[in-house]
Amino acid sequence: MKKFLAAVLAGTMVLSLAACSGNSASSGAAATPASAVASEAASTDAASTAPASEATTGGKKVGISMPTKSLERWNRDGSYLEQQFKAKNCSVELTYSDNKIDQQVKDIENLIADKVDLLVVAAIDGESLSNVLNTAKSANIPVISYDRLIMNTDAISYYVSFDNYKVGQLQGQYVIDKLGLKKDDKSKTYNIEFTAGDPADNNATFFFNGAMDTLKDYIDAGILKIPSGQKTFQQVATQSWDTKNAMNRMQNILGSFYSNGTKLDVALCSNDSTALGVTQAIATDYKGTTAPIITGQDGDEANLANIIDGKQSMTVYKAVANEAVATLDIGMGLLGGTKPDESIIKSAGWKFDCVYDTKSYDNKKGIVPSYLLVPTVVTSENLQKELVDTGYYTMDGKYPKAKK
Ligand code: BGC
Repeated sequence: MKKFLAAVLAGTMVLSLAACSGNSASSGAAATPASAVASEAASTDAASTAPASEATTGGKKVGISMPTKSLERWNRDGSYLEQQFKAKNCSVELTYSDNKIDQQVKDIENLIADKVDLLVVAAIDGESLSNVLNTAKSANIPVISYDRLIMNTDAISYYVSFDNYKVGQLQGQYVIDKLGLKKDDKSKTYNIEFTAGDPADNNATFFFNGAMDTLKDYIDAGILKIPSGQKTFQQVATQSWDTKNAMNRMQNILGSFYSNGTKLDVALCSNDSTALGVTQAIATDYKGTTAPIITGQDGDEANLANIIDGKQSMTVYKAVANEAVATLDIGMGLLGGTKPDESIIKSAGWKFDCVYDTKSYDNKKGIVPSYLLVPTVVTSENLQKELVDTGYYTMDGKYPKAKK
């Protein structure tokens, strides 16, 4: 992982400076030494020298629609996005829809009625926003599909996310490495159960498929066994990514297939909110004596504490501070009337890895040009280096706290 939140935060402060002085220079500043940007801001008559696309963006209104505060990461996303756009002199309306689809439609309708110039939307249900986004399109409001792809609409300008398939691959590969699996060695077998995400979230199948494709050969060879027999996405999905739902399902599985002390070696969970429920079920209902490998995603605080305490094995961390920086730069381009493409990755000076992908994400109305950032595996061994030394988290006693 190359990017540092410390730099992002320093950059945000500097950006406020730059915006106040009328200079809307690229947020590549997030990774630029503060002094360099500050002096640029001070010495530049931005109104006359900034490129037209940037000079016209001041005072614009950005509507940000997030799914829910109840899943930890979206609080971070909302807060980073708000800070970033405000630092560019935009006004921001930030809504959370309590994981209720109708509420999100209403929230977006209100943002459109409030005449926002740009919409950034992380969908609760990727299939339910076509109508409201048609309204946005008719009002000439560009839309960035944030983190989750919004389906069945041609109103989306860009998709900004992480490589979702890769997240699942990293989880699967972690299991292979940790158990030391070899395709031609059937001398030892292991039991695994899968817990995936919300079927309404387009990301959820990518995570699941990434993990399943990575582990499939070992399952087919009988090296990894699934005592519950539940191995399709539909069978292992978790409504709303909800911790309780994941816990209940795992309690049922443990009661039905492991009650005689059968060992569970791996609980492959697509993210941290589901891993939390699975960990709770294992703590109360698992009769086996060996601790299973438990995977996750996001770096939620409770899960990082579990990693430190040895109750969860890993999480796939996605630096949402960088996702916000990418969204900001693409959004500022759209607000300035340009059509960002691959070149923005260099021109904005992003110091984090990002791939511009115009092939993989088809939302059933066409391919949506996508900016995909790169996720990282975090375990107890590298947590300090990847999360704390980089400035994304601070240590609060024994456990990390996310910076917001
Ligand atoms: C995000 C994950 C998150 C999940 C539940 C997904 O769309 O990409 O990071 O864990 O939603 O909030």
